[in-house]
Amino acid sequence: MKDLQTIILAAGKGTRMKSDLPKVLHPVCGQPLIDYVLDLARRIGSAKINVVVGHRSSQVRAVLPKDPKVRIVIQRQLKGTGDAVKSAQSQFIHFAGDVLILSGDAVLLKTKTLKDLVLKHKKSQAAVTFLTTVMQHPEGYGRIIRGFGGKAVAIREEKDATEYEKNIMEINAGVYCFRAPVLREAIRHIKLNPKKKEYYLTDIIAHLTEQKARIETLETEDPAEGLGINTRIELARVEDIMRQRILRQLMLNGVTVVDPQTTYVHQNVIIGRDTVIRPFTFIESDVRIGPHCQIGPFARLRPGTRIGSGVQLGNYVEVSRTRMGRQCVMKHFGFLGDARIGSKVNIGAGAVTANYDGKNKNVTQIAEHAFIGSDTILVAPVKIGKKSMTGAGSVVTRGRSVPAGRVVVGAPARLLERKVKAKRKK
Ligand code: UD1
Ligand code: CA
Repeated sequence: MKDLQTIILAAGKGTRMKSDLPKVLHPVCGQPLIDYVLDLARRIGSAKINVVVGHRSSQVRAVLPKDPKVRIVIQRQLKGTGDAVKSAQSQFIHFAGDVLILSGDAVLLKTKTLKDLVLKHKKSQAAVTFLTTVMQHPEGYGRIIRGFGGKAVAIREEKDATEYEKNIMEINAGVYCFRAPVLREAIRHIKLNPKKKEYYLTDIIAHLTEQKARIETLETEDPAEGLGINTRIELARVEDIMRQRILRQLMLNGVTVVDPQTTYVHQNVIIGRDTVIRPFTFIESDVRIGPHCQIGPFARLRPGTRIGSGVQLGNYVEVSRTRMGRQCVMKHFGFLGDARIGSKVNIGAGAVTANYDGKNKNVTQIAEHAFIGSDTILVAPVKIGKKSMTGAGSVVTRGRSVPAGRVVVGAPARLLERKVKAKRKK
């Protein structure tokens, strides 16, 4: 949309988080808050995305994508949401379209809701259309004040609300679509809030009411969409809702999640159909799992891992940056890091790749049909040939290469004369 610009407010300190990390960098399901909001801005088709940064701005800038559409705007002093928008004003000074304002801490907002908001705004030709949510516990949010005709006339921040107004359950979700010229004009009229010593963006609504401008609202269907993150308690709550959304989508795609309450899957994970995820399993970002796998209970799959079809990973298995071919089995505790594993490899209980030598991460290669005995330690870099075997408790030392079809035993592992019996099952 050429006639739409977005401003993302991400300069705040996040004081209530009590954190050294800027609020928008806290992760939810493995992804920083700001990423979700950027995704929304992209999906809605903004011509320009202005990200307002301030507190620890260099840290926030470092995670922003190098996208010509994304502009960084500095808010010099953190004087509130009204001031943050003012800082971005130079970006839309001659712009005649609409300006969408998103809050850097609201990540549960759905693209469809945002589209509906922009659509309603354009159709009604309102001066501003903003998003509201009805909440059972509206504490802390700005409340929507409606006039006799039911039209929104003001947003009252909690600190300034009367006891009567505090009972209002409809809150401001912090998402606004303004006509750019209206925003430019109105922003000049925001006065410093005497209690908080901040310029409230929300004061614009009362100003526009005085101006008899047309104000529209859209209520979110799902109350979760209005949730912001101000404290660690809200962070955990949003994490939980996001996680359930991810699991739900996986289940709709044909993945069995035995217990969604105790299964943790991050964003950017692909899992094939008929794969079963057992309880207390953690699957982090950038993991792909094929179809017909059995994962967990108590498994942890870390970023960069690719698992082929029909693989079984059992309890206390940790797999990191590893590629595993189809029908491999590792049913009991163990660790694989930086491993390249062919198909139909069996890995016994307690097997470990010692991938880190204190300086570098080294690769372990295990060719197809190999059999890694219980309690084997593979000191990377190491190569295990096709159909070869390691005995229980063996330590295959750094730089070793076990030839195909051979057996090694002991610590350090030595080659046995005998070859692997041709008839081993599998
Ligand atoms: C704000 C709204 C409130 C609404 C709620 C929805 C105001 C005054 N209040 O309150 O009506 O119900 O969001 O979640 O707008 N920020 C800056 N610069 C600043 C201050 C804040 O960029 O100087 C950014 C923050 O980083 C954050 C966003 O603006 O991403 C919202 O600020 P926050 O302090 O969380 O506002 P709330 O108190 O939640
Ligand atoms: Ca907030």
